[in-house]
Amino acid sequence: MLRIRVPATTANIGPGYDVLGAALTLFSDFEFELSERLEIEGCPDRYKNESNLVIRSYRHALEQCGREYVPLWLREEAGVPIARGLGSSSTCIAAGVMAANELHGLGLSKKDIVSICTELEGHPDNVAPAIYGGVVAGFSEEGRVYCSRFEADPRWRLVTLIPDYEVRTEEARKVVKRDISLSDSIYTTGHVIGMLRALGEGDEELLDMACRDILHEPYRRKLIPDYDRARKLALENGAAAFFISGSGSTMMAATCSGETAEKILSAFSEAFSGHSSMELRICSEGAAVV
Ligand code: HSE
Repeated sequence: MLRIRVPATTANIGPGYDVLGAALTLFSDFEFELSERLEIEGCPDRYKNESNLVIRSYRHALEQCGREYVPLWLREEAGVPIARGLGSSSTCIAAGVMAANELHGLGLSKKDIVSICTELEGHPDNVAPAIYGGVVAGFSEEGRVYCSRFEADPRWRLVTLIPDYEVRTEEARKVVKRDISLSDSIYTTGHVIGMLRALGEGDEELLDMACRDILHEPYRRKLIPDYDRARKLALENGAAAFFISGSGSTMMAATCSGETAEKILSAFSEAFSGHSSMELRICSEGAAVV
């Protein structure tokens, strides 16, 4: 039996819309065996068929390599919540493509895997950190994805608020401004580079400045009813920065201080008793066979 563990991811991290993401210390596990017929356990009934994203990704990887589809027995243990902006679809895509690689000896490199996963996801900012771990910036050129991986300062703590409601990525992508000016582009390039250094060096002041996004967060905050209150609480309790994780609904407060993280966590737990809150770290390991 093959068991693959894939980390959750936070995409965008402020200004890095569709470019930047980080792996998190929250995981989904997937078990696979080649089988006579498709069998899926551990997920709602509506996903127990060929439309399951893990299966579609497995199949897509086989097709890309010119191999015959062989059915699977699959068991999912999803620690990453669905449709909350923590990369749950990327965990499924990465697991499916990696399973095809392992079970059929496709000989794909990590770079190949990220390129196939990005074709399925549309942008690399969740799948690339899910595969490589750490903080990853990526772009596609001529059908391939080029990633730059950075190690995060281990002091970063991401106090995470996961609402009990979802924001559909499809809807959240519709509200983002389509055309941006040269000055917005210059602003964003500089801020993304600042984010990389802030995350790498544990620089709270730089993170505060670099995290200021103009591409998506000003539009998406309206889709998350608790955004303003959560942001105010996070900043009042000492967070260096506050941002929407991926397309939401999850929000994160970043700090290098354990004491500050505890304060933010208790403020979130007290104010939002119906939601889930937890402290996560940036995980330096990507998806792996375990
Ligand atoms: N970059 C993507 C977005 C991540 O913000 O829409 C969510 O899939």
